[in-house]
Amino acid sequence: MRILVVGSGGREHAIAYKIKQSKLCSSLYCLPGNGGTAKIAKNIDIKTDDIKRIVKFSKKENIDLVVVGPENPLALGIVDELEKAGINAFGPKKNAAIIEASKTFTKSFLKKHSIPTAEYETFYDFDSAKKYIESKGVPIVVKADGLAAGKGVTVAKTEEEATKALEDIFIKKRFGEAGNMAVIEEFLEGEEASFLAFSDGENILPMIAAQDHKPIYNNDEGPNTGGMGAYAPTPIIDKEIQQYITENIMKKTILGMEAEGRAYKGVLYAGLMIKNKKPYVLEFNCRFGDPETQAILPLLESDIVEVMLATVEGNLDGYSLKWKNEYAISVVLASGGYPLNYEKDKTITGLYEVEKLEDIIVFHAGTKMNGNGNIVTNGGRVLNVVGLDKDFKKAQKKAYDAIKLINFDKMYYRTDIGNKVYKYL
Ligand SMILES: Nc1ncnc2c1ncn2[C@@H]1O[C@H](COP(=O)(O)OP(=O)(O)O)[C@@H](O)[C@H]1O
Ligand SMILES: [Mg+2]
Repeated sequence: MRILVVGSGGREHAIAYKIKQSKLCSSLYCLPGNGGTAKIAKNIDIKTDDIKRIVKFSKKENIDLVVVGPENPLALGIVDELEKAGINAFGPKKNAAIIEASKTFTKSFLKKHSIPTAEYETFYDFDSAKKYIESKGVPIVVKADGLAAGKGVTVAKTEEEATKALEDIFIKKRFGEAGNMAVIEEFLEGEEASFLAFSDGENILPMIAAQDHKPIYNNDEGPNTGGMGAYAPTPIIDKEIQQYITENIMKKTILGMEAEGRAYKGVLYAGLMIKNKKPYVLEFNCRFGDPETQAILPLLESDIVEVMLATVEGNLDGYSLKWKNEYAISVVLASGGYPLNYEKDKTITGLYEVEKLEDIIVFHAGTKMNGNGNIVTNGGRVLNVVGLDKDFKKAQKKAYDAIKLINFDKMYYRTDIGNKVYKYL
């Protein structure tokens, strides 16, 4: 099969890496891809939201399956357009991708279907939202409705912070149309986890659960980022909680979406808060998570192309996934200054040495090959270094030992990825 992966992050490199292992894959393309995907696929210089050109390219190259990584093209309807052109695509259609693209949609969906989530109200203007915050007090969580590249949510500890978040949304219009509405919700205390599952519209096939590390600094301090590292499987989600999530969150959601005429195919990602062993939905994403995917997919033994085809064709019933009995811990190496301003085009050294190591995989994110054939930095999050082992501590040590061999100017990473697990092991 001729397969195209849409996206350019660590997630897409991990997806491409796994697809490349499949006997079913004969040719692999990445659009636009990065310095890492260039080694296992052919990178195509088209933007991920240029749907017309992506459809045209897929037709011309006789692509058999398009796998969409990021949320933007999904929310714009890339799967609808590819299907219209007769091309198989992995991911939800536009009317199902709304589960990520509109937080007000999802909150009312969750309430309607009695799926556990924080108490909330929806607002359309600054004044009534401000009054609500004054009546509820802090801490409180303010969320812009639409896609905001991970920047639309404020967990406010003071009323000033909450008010500033409302100003950004309603008055400064920092998120454009994504801020036409806002959700204000109850602050939930607990431990966060990411639960991903394949869904063919009716059946759910859960993956191993993972934990992300969003804030930039150790001990979860500083501003949120796209994610500074992840590990899987996480013992926070034990068998019992996993069962509960599968039945009472994932299945209920898929059946609810189907009942509303929004059949959901692809990966459904639940961002959860586990409070006293009970999971609450913070949000859904309509795609694989980044950086969770970089920790999850190296542990998958099953052929991912087979699973993706079964998902697209509605054949997941009776399917089961095989996993390695190991842990994967993935640490993000970022450009100094990220998530704010940072420089690009820094030469990365040590990659060749690290790629020779056992139980280590390096997934590229913001990298590219420059004119001299060197890999240079090209984004905020640059590399994901994944260590694998049956023993969690050893997996963690392998990742951090490998990182010592890699360098680029102003390289920054958290040194505590995975430490949260120790209280559960
Ligand atoms: N109700 C809540 N209580 C506590 N923290 C929350 C709540 N909702 C969101 N958060 C925090 O904010 C982060 C971002 O919120 P989320 O809804 O996942 O939005 P997005 O990923 O679109 O930015 C979460 O990962 C979590 O750390
Ligand atoms: Mg989130």
